[in-house]
Amino acid sequence: MTQQRKSVHGSWSNRLAFVLAATGSAVGLGNIWKFPYIAGENGGGAFVLVYLVCIGLIGIPIMMAEVMLGRRGRQSPINTMRTLAAEANAHPAWRWLGWAGVIAGFLILSYYSVIAGWALAYVFRSMAGVFDGATADGVGSIFTQLTEDPERLLAWHTIFMVMTMVVVARGVKSGLEQAVRFLVPALFVLLIMLDGYAMASGAFQQGLDFLFTPDFSKITANGVLIAMGHSFFTLSLGMGAIMVYGSYLPDRTSVARTSIIIALLDTLVALLAGMAIFPLVFSNGLEPGSGPGLIFQTLPIAFGHMTGGDLFGTLFFVLLVFAAWTSAISLIEPAVAWLVENKGMTRVHASVYAGAATWGMGLVTILSFSHWSDFHPLSFISIFEKYTVFDLLDYLTANIMLPLGGLAIAIFSAWVMRRQDSVQELDMGDGPAYRLWHFLVCYVTPVAVVVVFLNVTGIVEF
Ligand code: PHE
Repeated sequence: MTQQRKSVHGSWSNRLAFVLAATGSAVGLGNIWKFPYIAGENGGGAFVLVYLVCIGLIGIPIMMAEVMLGRRGRQSPINTMRTLAAEANAHPAWRWLGWAGVIAGFLILSYYSVIAGWALAYVFRSMAGVFDGATADGVGSIFTQLTEDPERLLAWHTIFMVMTMVVVARGVKSGLEQAVRFLVPALFVLLIMLDGYAMASGAFQQGLDFLFTPDFSKITANGVLIAMGHSFFTLSLGMGAIMVYGSYLPDRTSVARTSIIIALLDTLVALLAGMAIFPLVFSNGLEPGSGPGLIFQTLPIAFGHMTGGDLFGTLFFVLLVFAAWTSAISLIEPAVAWLVENKGMTRVHASVYAGAATWGMGLVTILSFSHWSDFHPLSFISIFEKYTVFDLLDYLTANIMLPLGGLAIAIFSAWVMRRQDSVQELDMGDGPAYRLWHFLVCYVTPVAVVVVFLNVTGIVEF
C-alpha cells in the first residue's frame, strides 16, 4: 500500500472518523440551503433527476478518485499532485490542479461563511421567539432586514470565520471528529421531524410533485450545468477537500464503500430538506424560485406555527451552523496544509493567514446583498443578466471551477496514473468493480463535463 509515505499532519483515528469527517464536509449549506433554492429556480423534478444522475455517474467515481489520490500522496493537494505526477513521469504542471483547488476553496468559503452567518443570526432570532405566529410577509421582512444590513452580516461572518479557524488551527484529530459524531444523526432526526410537519401542512403532495415529477420542458442547458456543478459542490469534489481528507486516511480502508456511503447520506439530507421546504412554499403561496433566501423565508413559518417551534427552530439552525462549520473546515484545509508544508508555518499561523484573507474576500458577498445589490457586472450575457457579484462568485466556483477540477482529477487518475497504482490503491482487485470505476472516470466523466459545458455555450445542442 502506501507505507512509504506518511502525512506530517497526522491521521484519522479510524475509518469511522474519516467517514464522519468526509460526511461532515459533504453535508452542509449545499444540501439544506442551496439544493432547494436551485431546484426551485430550475423547475424542480427534471433538475433533481439530472442532479441524481450526476451524483451516481460522476460524483461517486470522482470521490473515489480524490480519496485515492490523497491517500497515495499524503500531502496537501498541491504537493500530492506534484508527487504523484513525478511518480507517473507526468508534467509537473499537474500541481496547478492543487492550486486551482486552493483558490476555489478560498472563494467558496468567502461566501459560504456569510450564508452560515445568516444561519447563526437565525439561531438567536428563533431563540427569542421572533418567528412566533409569523406570516410569510413577516418572515420575509425579518430576512431582508438582516441581509440588507452590511454591519450585521459582517459581525456574523466574522464570528463564523473565527469559529472555523479555531478548529482548523487545532488540527485533524481534536475537535472535528467529535463534532460530526453527534451532528449528522441529530440533523437527520430534525429534518425528519420537519418532513412530518410538512406532511401535515396540506401541500405535501404538491411539494413532492414539484420535486419528483420531471417536466423536461422546464430545464435549460444552463440548468443542466447547475445540476452538474451542484453534484460536485454538494459532495465537496473538484477542489481537493476530499483529497486532503483522504491524505489523513489510514491504509486498508475500502475507498469504494466509503465513497458510496458518503454520497448516499449527502443525497438523503438534500432530498429530506427539499421535502420539508416545498410543501411549505406551496401552502404559504411563496415562489419556489425566490432564490438564496428560500429556506430562511419558509422554514421559520413552520417553526412559528408548531408547538415547541422556538425550541425546534433554534435546534434546527444550530444544526445548520454545525453542518456549515464542518464543511467550512474542509474548504480551507488544503490551503492550511500547504502553508504548513511549504512555508514552515505552524497550524496556528497558517490558519490566521488563510482565515484573514478569506474573511476579507467575504466583504464582496456582504455588499452584494446591500450596496451592490443592483450591480450586475455581466448583465450583457443573457444568463447572467440579473447576477450580482455574489451570484457570479457562486456560479464561477460551483459550476465552472469544480467541474473543471473534477475533469482534471478524472483525467489524471484514469489516463496519467499507472493502472497498476490505481488498482493497488483502490484495493478492490482488478475485477468488474474496478473496471466500472475505470470506465466511468476514463470516459463518462470527461465526456459529460465537456458536453455540458459546450451545451451551455451553445456550441453543441441536445
Ligand atoms: N459540500 C459542502 C456543502 O454541500 C460545500 C463544500 C464544497 C465543501 C466544496 C467543501 C468543498 O455545503
